[in-house]
Parts: sequence; structure tokens; C-alpha cells
Amino acid sequence: MTQIAAAPDIAADAPVLIFDSGVGGLSVLDAVRAAMPDAPLIYAADTAGLPYGSKSEAEIAARVAGLLGRMSERYRPRLACIACNTASTIALGMVRDVLHLPIVGTVPAIKPAAERTRTGTIGLIGTEATIRQAYVDKLEAEFAKGKTLLRLAAPDLVAAAEAKLRGEPVDVAAIERAAANLARMADGKVIDVLVLACTHFPLLADELRAAFGPDVALVDGAEGIARRIAHLTQGQPMARSRPDRAVFTSDDGRLDPLRPALAARGITDVGLL
Ligand code: DGL
Repeated sequence: MTQIAAAPDIAADAPVLIFDSGVGGLSVLDAVRAAMPDAPLIYAADTAGLPYGSKSEAEIAARVAGLLGRMSERYRPRLACIACNTASTIALGMVRDVLHLPIVGTVPAIKPAAERTRTGTIGLIGTEATIRQAYVDKLEAEFAKGKTLLRLAAPDLVAAAEAKLRGEPVDVAAIERAAANLARMADGKVIDVLVLACTHFPLLADELRAAFGPDVALVDGAEGIARRIAHLTQGQPMARSRPDRAVFTSDDGRLDPLRPALAARGITDVGLL
């Protein structure tokens, strides 16, 4: 169960920590910032481990638990958000068991998609690791009973979102390929709602809309996560007394090109973990 820390113990500048393997969690950070303008935020990305989607469950769980443990000691966050479907569907339960901190996860938005579909056929794109998780089977059984859920791994879109945020050209053909591959599945042509089950994908919303067309609604969990974080931190003191910060587990020359996208989000303190 999520624990809510008592408000008086929380420093006003204690950050909300938002964690992903790469830039994807920025789609969640955008929603959190919109919902909580005064919240101090720290963004953390395991760039040395990117992409998570092609890794084993054991490796992802070990990385996520280890990094969140280290960061919770170093940055003393008031709450941590695993802004990554891959990490959440694999490691959320385990991380909640070991960290004494409220943890909010990101899981595929199958419930809102099922409420929205009119044709009864929902598409879901995510990483290879996410789409095979029992957690997704459970969400499908619980919320999409009687509907058809077509799952597709779209790892190329992770790279496309990483490129876009660095101001590099986006591989539009990869996005069109994902749309064509879903359309080719049985019932694929009648998909009217597409679950973006990877936090990188809302960063490609314009490109996805162009590839999937106006009849397919895009659904993701970012606003719901922001509402949950706002609820769990309600009444706590909050002050942004320093610039928001982003930390990464590797550089390899890939950080500098990200600075404009981070600065556009008010994140000017960028460094290595
Ligand atoms: N952003 C991550 C997610 O939501 C995945 C990207 C990766 O493969 O590392 O699943």
C-alpha cells in the first residue's frame, strides 16, 4: 500500500523525483508541472541502462531498485514516480516493499482506453518487455473484458523520441511502420483508441496523430499520474528554492543536446548521478 508521509516532517524544498530510463518521463514531468506549479522536481534518467525494453525482467528490477535506493538517500525526495511503464510493470511492487517512500508508478492506460472505445478494439504500443508482462494481462482482464486489445512492441519509437528531444530528425518511417503493423493484425483496421504504454511515446504525439489518422484517439497516463501525485502531497509545504535538476547515469555526449528541451521545462541544473 502507498504510504503517505506526515506533512510536518517534509522540507519545503524536498523534491518529487521523476525517474525513467531516458527522456520519456519528461512527458510525465510536463503533466506534474502543470498540476503542481510550486513543486520542486528532480528528473532522473538511467541513460546507461537505456533502453529498458530489450532487457530482462531481472536486470530491470535490479537497476530500478538500486538506483531508486541510491537516489532516495542522496536527494531525500518526498515521493518518487517511476515514469516508465517497463520499470513499473516489472518492479513497482518490489520497489514499494523496499523503499520507505511513497512510490507512484506508470501503468498502461487500458482502463480509460476501454471506457473510450466505441468499436471495442484498442491498440497498445509499448516496449517488448512491457507488452509481455502479466501486469498488462491483469489490466486487460480487469478493465477490457469483452474488448479486443492488440499489443505491439514499438522499440524504434523510443529512439525516435530520444532523437526528437535532442533536436535531431525523427524517424517518421518507424512510426508509420508501427501504424501499418497494427492495422495488419486481425481487427487492426477498426482500432479507435491507442494506448501509449511507454512514456516516450506522448513526446511523439504529433507524429503519431499524423500516422494513425484523426479517427484514432491517443491515450496515456500522464495526467492521471499527476493528479495522483498532487493528491498524495496535498497540504505539504512546497518551495522551489533552487533550479529544478536533472541527473543522468551516463553522458557519452548525449546530454548537451538535451539541454534546450530541459531548459524549456525550467531544468537548468544538469549533471551525472
Ligand atoms: N520510457 C520507458 C517506458 O515507459 C521505456 C523506454 C525504454 O525502453 O527504456 O516503458
